Amino acid sequence: MTEPTILAIESSCDETSAAVIRGGKVLSNIIATQAVHEKYGGVVPELASRAHQQNIIPVVTEALNRANVTKNELSAVAFTRGPGLLGALLVGCSFAKSFALGLNIPLIDVNHMQAHILAHFIEDPKPNFPFLCLTVSGGHTQIVLVKDHLDMEIIGQTTDDAVGEAFDKTAKMLGLPYPGGPMLDKAAAQGNPKAFEFPVGNMPGYDYSFSGIKTSVQYFLRDRTKENPNFVQENINDICASVQYTLIKTLLKKVVQATKDLGIKEVAIAGGVSANSGLRATLQEYAKKYNWNVYIPAFQYCTDNAAMIAMAAHFQYLKGDFATQYASPDPRMKL
Ligand code: KG4
Ligand code: ZN
Repeated sequence: MTEPTILAIESSCDETSAAVIRGGKVLSNIIATQAVHEKYGGVVPELASRAHQQNIIPVVTEALNRANVTKNELSAVAFTRGPGLLGALLVGCSFAKSFALGLNIPLIDVNHMQAHILAHFIEDPKPNFPFLCLTVSGGHTQIVLVKDHLDMEIIGQTTDDAVGEAFDKTAKMLGLPYPGGPMLDKAAAQGNPKAFEFPVGNMPGYDYSFSGIKTSVQYFLRDRTKENPNFVQENINDICASVQYTLIKTLLKKVVQATKDLGIKEVAIAGGVSANSGLRATLQEYAKKYNWNVYIPAFQYCTDNAAMIAMAAHFQYLKGDFATQYASPDPRMKL
């Protein structure tokens, strides 16, 4: 069999992305970020769908050009089926279906969260099975037991907000511009993580709760600004560092427990929040302390991108796991 050449499309949220992969090697990965949401302080679903429609043809064209691949050389077309915003997913799904139909090649439907984890197979070093992956994004917070490329089990997850939401909402309360997570990360780097203490919800097993910290930050800011109206401006770096420290400590506490219970020393992180510099540094410290092998994706593969969708599609192609023209988006697609 010649090496499969796959075009992959990602459109689950506010990034329109297309990538080409050949024989498991990513040849191109084009990402168009939608600036339109900035002035609203968050992603506006209807605007995201429209921006995807505008971006998708130029982004796919660029991905094929950069890879130096013509559409007639493609073995399959892949798209993100879910989870994500319905209208946004529809754009990628419809485009991929038309493209596959026009070229008479197979269609592959990819789970976005599985793809975040499979981003670890784009470059070396690659984790060994079984490994634990802390998957942290704007919509998800999960500890996943990864038994094989396409065999994964969620062993713990958030019962309310995702950790990315906790980052974004705290940033918004502090008046930081959208997208909040990376801004909070930057400010935290200049602050003292032990300056303030925030309580964290303690859930049983490997589960999480992140809605409480949002409320405690809100009350904390309300009380402190009553005493000093300039409290936020004067302490922004320390507040960011303290919130970030609390979130990271909470995330990793359950991972430590899971590695002990399951006897696994291979630990990976994935998803948008894995771009957080504090989380990356703390994971390295834990690697030394607990004798783990840790896997941290390159920045470009942390946040949403089509290269990870292409990687997942590659494994699905080899397994013969294809979709039909009846495929439709699944905004709440499970792992
Ligand atoms: O995976 P992703 O790009 O999209 C989803 O699938 O949700 O993740 C986006 C999330 C947002 O909450 C964003 O604020 C967060 O990842 N994020 C960060 C950082 N970079 C992105 N959070 C903290 N620190 C960062 N450096
Ligand atoms: Zn994502």
